[in-house]
Amino acid sequence: MIELVHLQRQFESMKHEVLARIADVIDSGTYILGPNVRQFETEAAEKIGVKHAIGVGNGTDALVLTLDAYGIGPGDEVITTPYTFFASAEAISRVGATPVFADIRPETYNIDPEKVEKAITPRTKAIIPVHLFGQPADMDDIMEIAERRGLLVIEDACQAFGAVYKGRRVGSIGHAACFSFFPTKNLGTMGDGGLITTNDDQLAERIRQLRHHGSTRKYFHERIGYNSRLDEIHAAVLRIGLARIDAWNAQRARLAFRYQERLADHPLLKIAAPAPDRSHIYHLFCLESPERDRVMQELQKAGIQCAVYYPLPLHLQEAYRHLGYKRGDCPVSEKLSETLFAIPLSPFLREDEQDAVIDALWNIEGGKAG
Ligand SMILES: Cc1ncc(COP(=O)(O)O)c(C=O)c1O
Repeated sequence: MIELVHLQRQFESMKHEVLARIADVIDSGTYILGPNVRQFETEAAEKIGVKHAIGVGNGTDALVLTLDAYGIGPGDEVITTPYTFFASAEAISRVGATPVFADIRPETYNIDPEKVEKAITPRTKAIIPVHLFGQPADMDDIMEIAERRGLLVIEDACQAFGAVYKGRRVGSIGHAACFSFFPTKNLGTMGDGGLITTNDDQLAERIRQLRHHGSTRKYFHERIGYNSRLDEIHAAVLRIGLARIDAWNAQRARLAFRYQERLADHPLLKIAAPAPDRSHIYHLFCLESPERDRVMQELQKAGIQCAVYYPLPLHLQEAYRHLGYKRGDCPVSEKLSETLFAIPLSPFLREDEQDAVIDALWNIEGGKAG
């Protein structure tokens, strides 16, 4: 079986260091918000190029705490993409605001700035672009719209740690940004973890309070907060990953380029070219096929894992029925939800395995015809 991602191999590659650092944490007797979290926050802020990085419980909480810290809530609208993991919109609903879905661009799968502009109303407070599958969204256009219309931009960078847009790391472009360290993310831990980055001192202060029951002084609470903190063990593991992330991302991009070269003229497949001026870190390698279900079945028969991202755009989810969207409202997302799928890719995919995936795709009936 060729897996979609290779978490055990990733762990194997750094096992001794991970076990030693975890042992240090256990010996230290400090398990929550200790020196590893502080050091990871400092190192991550430096890597991304921002003043503040704040570790929290997971990527969803990172979005919720950021929205809450900005005072976004009932009566407010936040524009985001319908083609993302549910949490991007769920966080908006969780603070009582309303998600407004703007369709994506077919070439990048990222939110379309023109559609964002059209979706703005007097209630709009913020835009959450998602750097989907590891490719930065069109941040110049989004920032220009936000500035002109007086809106906040919160980057959902959960799938794109280390990706670069026009010389700047994602997470340093919007007013704030959110990351997830879920195990399968390109920077992941062995459990849940999240991070918020910002250059805004006040926002950082508020988020530090919110993540810890609205408190900065033990047993004195200035606001209603959350319990959402990064654990010492996860911060220790993440510091090890952080030292490797650029090499891992480069290997992802190298393998992605191999797929692009070798599958370029496959008659059943369409591979979107990466957009210029930005690095795509390929959290997932996704491609399109008008015969997706048959192609996926053939891959699975050949022992190759593949998966659909995402089978139902968010505007059509049961949970958002009350918002009144219907099929046809976001046609690009709807079409991609029927044609897009991911094939194996991680820094630990071996070339012989990748060759087997490529061969299996060419061996599908109709594959050789063109
Ligand atoms: C785009 C996006 N946003 C938000 C999240 C939420 O992150 P977490 O699972 O850490 O809560 C994820 C990942 O799960 C994601 O892919």
